[in-house]
Amino acid sequence: MYQTIITRLEKSIFIISINRPDKLNAVNNMVMQELNLAIDEIYTNPEIRSAIITGSGTKAFVAGADISEFLKMEDNGTALAKKGQEIFFRIENAPKPIIAAVNGFALGGGCELAMACHFRIASENAKFGQPEVSLGLIPGYGGTQRLTQLIGKGRAMELLLSAMLIGAETALQYGLVNYVVPQEELLNKSISVLSLINEKPPVAVAKCIEAVNAVFDHTGNGYDVEAGCFGDCFKTEDMKEGVNAFLEKRKPDFKGK
Ligand code: COA
Repeated sequence: MYQTIITRLEKSIFIISINRPDKLNAVNNMVMQELNLAIDEIYTNPEIRSAIITGSGTKAFVAGADISEFLKMEDNGTALAKKGQEIFFRIENAPKPIIAAVNGFALGGGCELAMACHFRIASENAKFGQPEVSLGLIPGYGGTQRLTQLIGKGRAMELLLSAMLIGAETALQYGLVNYVVPQEELLNKSISVLSLINEKPPVAVAKCIEAVNAVFDHTGNGYDVEAGCFGDCFKTEDMKEGVNAFLEKRKPDFKGK
């Protein structure tokens, strides 16, 4: 049924794998649409008690939004960011637990996807980062807001401004992930954590999620500011240069325009 994701139901746990391993599971428009449909299933299918989002293969969870689509976009940057934010809000506000099993690179939109989940478990080779600034951009799917919520302002600033990546152990130390396990144990660990939660009464589980999310005003201005700033960057010559440099596998030459 799906072309860019694989789904299966195991022990009432819905497992969604982003499945473009040759592109390090970069999230293109079709992945976003199919992910949204899979989220519908989580909301509506009573057989699903909880869900795992992971990436196909052993190298990447999701290496970001598909950069090759950026220069062909019909939407302006702000609208593009808003669309992604909407889908990730649906993950964050789902009435059933959705966790990320981060099996490799979780960069840009991939880090944002993992952060939209209720919590994260990483394999030892996982790497996290928001490298958008290297493309003349900023995160647009909630990354500036959720990274700051999860690891605090100083650490979030450093990652966002420098584009540096952090490994699984640092992510654990920062509180970005709950556990780090060998890659071959990642899915089993995720299933065993969710199996414990699945024994609990679903209404109470849903209400925990709702109440914890209420700590953060995620309909607030920060997400609008992020989408607007993403749109401002999206119009710049430096963004076109950054994206072209990535696609042409060369260093960007930014001009400050
Ligand atoms: N969008 C589109 N394509 C991507 C991608 C992305 N975000 N990330 C990786 N790919 C593609 C590469 O272009 C390459 O495709 P090709 O084989 O057709 O040339 C393929 O996935 C493998 O990636 P490659 O760069 O060759 O792997 P690597 O091991 O040398 O480097 C990364 C891995 C993750 C460091 C590197 O792919 C990267 O920097 N990706 C972009 C990360 C990013 O900026 N994400 C934020 C986007 S907003």
